Amino acid sequence: MAINFMTLTRHIYEGEKKHPGATGELSALLHELSLAAKVISLEVNKAGLADIIGFTGDNNVHGEQVKKLDMFSHDMLFKAMDHGGHLCAMASEEEEDIIHIPDHHKKGKYVLLFDPLDGSSNIDANVSIGTIFSIYKRITPNDGSPGTLEDCLQPGIKQVAAGYIVYGSSTIFVYTAGDGVFGFTLDPAFGEFLLSHDNIKIPEKAWIYSINEGNYKYWKPGLKKYIKYIQDADNRGRRPYSSRYIGSMVADIHRNMLYGGIFIYPADIRSPNGKLRLMYECNPMAFIIEQAGGRAIDGSKRIMEIQPSDLHQRVPIYIGSKEAVDKVEQFLKEDLEQ
Ligand code: AHG
Ligand code: MN
Ligand code: MN
Repeated sequence: MAINFMTLTRHIYEGEKKHPGATGELSALLHELSLAAKVISLEVNKAGLADIIGFTGDNNVHGEQVKKLDMFSHDMLFKAMDHGGHLCAMASEEEEDIIHIPDHHKKGKYVLLFDPLDGSSNIDANVSIGTIFSIYKRITPNDGSPGTLEDCLQPGIKQVAAGYIVYGSSTIFVYTAGDGVFGFTLDPAFGEFLLSHDNIKIPEKAWIYSINEGNYKYWKPGLKKYIKYIQDADNRGRRPYSSRYIGSMVADIHRNMLYGGIFIYPADIRSPNGKLRLMYECNPMAFIIEQAGGRAIDGSKRIMEIQPSDLHQRVPIYIGSKEAVDKVEQFLKEDLEQ
């Protein structure tokens, strides 16, 4: 039996060696994130057993009901990341304002933004959920001072690393540091993430589309026509696409990246900015998909070029295989002209 000894930690440090100027801080950050991921994974796996299922009764800043595992994951990420000395600030989907590094800990040159638990409506049903993270270099001077909102509100093209963890039939950690996309599956016996998906490339053509079709009534005409188009047969057998929608963005996009597909959370007549958050969900997933050879747009613009104005701003997203995003972009022109 061949044993794969390329652990996530080793991969991160070997990647660092390719950059002579690297200080090792980004590697340390990614390593610390992988530790938080292991703890969250354990907790997710026993969610049906422990008294952790159910609502806390609180609403998060988006007015959605927060489940206990969301808060557990948020707390775990904060605790794993606050004292390493590499961060000057954090921001989380579950907290309104930026999160400061406690006074007694050193402040470093990076900021970390995260969606601690994505797809949380799926927790009780044993359906895949995830964590998403995004790392930027601070823009204020790296002089030991606390990070600011300005450090967090950078466009996605400034990300130095991004990743996600899917807690599914197994737990997988996928990351990019701007030099390809790599996936590591958690071996529950070793307690290590082992390289399972080397240099992931999304197929250029899509087979799958993922969108909440329950909102059809609210879609604009261009999007309605696009969905009808991909549901239609063509004479080369490339359509109709298959429909797959988990309701956990991270799991839907992970599957589509491996199989070829497009994930859409659109603007519609009720929600002109869609639902998903630019800083915690769309930018990191866009960075990963672009690194895998795909595209991510808000309908007309590249997601990663949007200048953010608010930590919690929402943005429509069309993300996945290049050919499919090119096509939907053509159909959406009609909606822009309205
Ligand atoms: P979160 O659990 O972090 O709030 O995110 C849920 C998001 C996303 O993961 C998913 O794709 C989308 O909500 C599903 O929304 P609908 O139920 O409106 O389809
Ligand atoms: Mn989410
Ligand atoms: Mn969430």
